[in-house]
Amino acid sequence: MSDHPATSQTLTPRGAGILAEPEAEFGPDFVVPQHWDRYSPEEHAVWDRLYRRQAELLPGRAAPEFLAGLAALNLNRGGIPDFEAINRDLQALTGWSVVAVPCLVPDAIFFEHLANRRFPAGRFIRKPQELDYIEEPDVFHDVFGHVPMLTNPVFADYMEAYGKGGLRSLGFDALPNLARLYWYTVEFGLINRPEGLRIYGAGIASSHAESIFALENSSPNRMHFQLERVMRTRYRIDDFQQNYFVIDSFEELFDATYQDFAALYARLPGLATFAPEQIVPGDRLYQHGDQAYANSGGRFGNEGKSTSPV
Ligand SMILES: [Fe+2]
Repeated sequence: MSDHPATSQTLTPRGAGILAEPEAEFGPDFVVPQHWDRYSPEEHAVWDRLYRRQAELLPGRAAPEFLAGLAALNLNRGGIPDFEAINRDLQALTGWSVVAVPCLVPDAIFFEHLANRRFPAGRFIRKPQELDYIEEPDVFHDVFGHVPMLTNPVFADYMEAYGKGGLRSLGFDALPNLARLYWYTVEFGLINRPEGLRIYGAGIASSHAESIFALENSSPNRMHFQLERVMRTRYRIDDFQQNYFVIDSFEELFDATYQDFAALYARLPGLATFAPEQIVPGDRLYQHGDQAYANSGGRFGNEGKSTSPV
C-alpha cells in the first residue's frame, strides 16, 4: 500500500469486512494473497464504475505514458483485476509486480518492496457510497492510479531508485523530505507536453474531480519541478493540492533524483520549509494560482458544490 507520505504508519487492517484478515496471515514483508475469488459482485461493480468514469475523463488529460500503460495492462477485463494477470503483463514489460498488503506498511518495508520492483497495493475497494472521497488508498487508487506508470521503463527505474533512496535515507532524519518528493511526483505530478500539461500522478489520475482541478482550476499554483524545492514544500493530505510540480520528461525526473541525497539531507535541516501555496524567487511558474478554492475553505467550505474532491 502506497500512502507512504501519510507518515502515520499504523497497522490498521484495511477494508474491515470481507477481506479483513488476522495479522497472522502476513509475514515480515506484509505480503498477503489478494484472495481475488472473495470479492463480491458489488465490489467488482465499484471498480467497473470507477474505471469507466476515469477512462472517459483521462484521454487528453493524462500523460500518453499513463494511457499507454492502462491499455497495455488491460485493467478493464470486468471487475477488480486479478494481480496475477496484471503481473504476467507487467513483469514482461518492466520486471515490476504488484503484491497485496493488508494494511499500511512501515516505511522500511515499503522502500524494500519498491527497491525490488514490487508495488505494495491495498486489496480492499471503497464502498459505493464513498466513490468520491476516501481517506485511505484502496485497490482502485493503488492499481488504476499507480500501476500504469510502472509499465514505462524510465518511470519504473525512478520508482526503484526511490525505494533504494528510501532505504538509504533511514539513517538520516529525512523521511519528511523524501515523502514530499513522492507526494509531488508519484502522487500528484504533472508533465509538460507540447499539447499542454498532463497528469501522471496516481493521486490525480485515480480521482475524477482532481483530474479536472489539477489541470483546469485557477486556484492552485503550477510550477516547474526542482528537487530541493520539492523536498522543502509541505503538502495537503486532506484536500486538493495548492501547488503542482511539473516535469518536462520522466528522464528529467530520474536524472534529478538519481544521486546520493546525503549532501542534500545534510543541508536541508538548516533551510526553511515552504507552505503549500507559497511562491518563492526562482520558481518557474506555469500558473500563479489565485488559491480561491483553498481560501474558500476547500473541501469543507465547498460541500455540495461541484469541486469536492474525489
Ligand atoms: Fe498512492
